[in-house]
Amino acid sequence: MIDIHNHVLFAVDDGSESIEESIEMLREYKRNGVEIVVFTPHLNHPMFKNDVETIKKNYDILNEECKKTGIYALLGSEVYLTPDIKDVIPVNDRFVLVEVNVSTYPMYLYDKVFDLQLEGYDIILAHVERYAWLKSDARILKKLKDMNVYFQMNVNSVKDDKFFLKNGYIDFLATDYHGKKRGTVDWEVFKTHKEMFERTVKMLGLKVPLQQ
Ligand SMILES: [Fe+2]
Repeated sequence: MIDIHNHVLFAVDDGSESIEESIEMLREYKRNGVEIVVFTPHLNHPMFKNDVETIKKNYDILNEECKKTGIYALLGSEVYLTPDIKDVIPVNDRFVLVEVNVSTYPMYLYDKVFDLQLEGYDIILAHVERYAWLKSDARILKKLKDMNVYFQMNVNSVKDDKFFLKNGYIDFLATDYHGKKRGTVDWEVFKTHKEMFERTVKMLGLKVPLQQ
């Protein structure tokens, strides 16, 4: 199974603080049957300043540990959409995970999504259950779906969901794991929604068995 959204990569954002913590998290994935992990550190976030160079450097270091742990790793990013984003790290050269302000609807959302799509990317909106403006305005939700924006929900939100999953709006489930300091992951969801994670592997164009 696969996790396409997390902050396991160390020392680049508010996720794992050290390589030791990252290794511990990787072992936790392995114990719970998740063997493909796409690291998605924050990019362009107003609170976490980092750069693609450091992210790639730390990724190369952690990837060596992934091989020892039996985890197949990929690098992506969680891009905080603003009118002037500079960098994205797409997953498999194709998927860009994006987030926006949770409380206020960003007027530039459609434009920026369209800009990225014109560059050839498929867009995944992260943790859709967090956006109050999305649940309360059916027009925005429909427009994003019409634009072929994929919706990702956090696994820890599955239990209490009465809207997104139930109405078939969710394309991806993922952990958004920040380390134990922010709470544990409801690993049961990987078992109860196995087909969705298997579909994710196919959608990302990953060929199983994977070669490191
Ligand atoms: Fe995240």
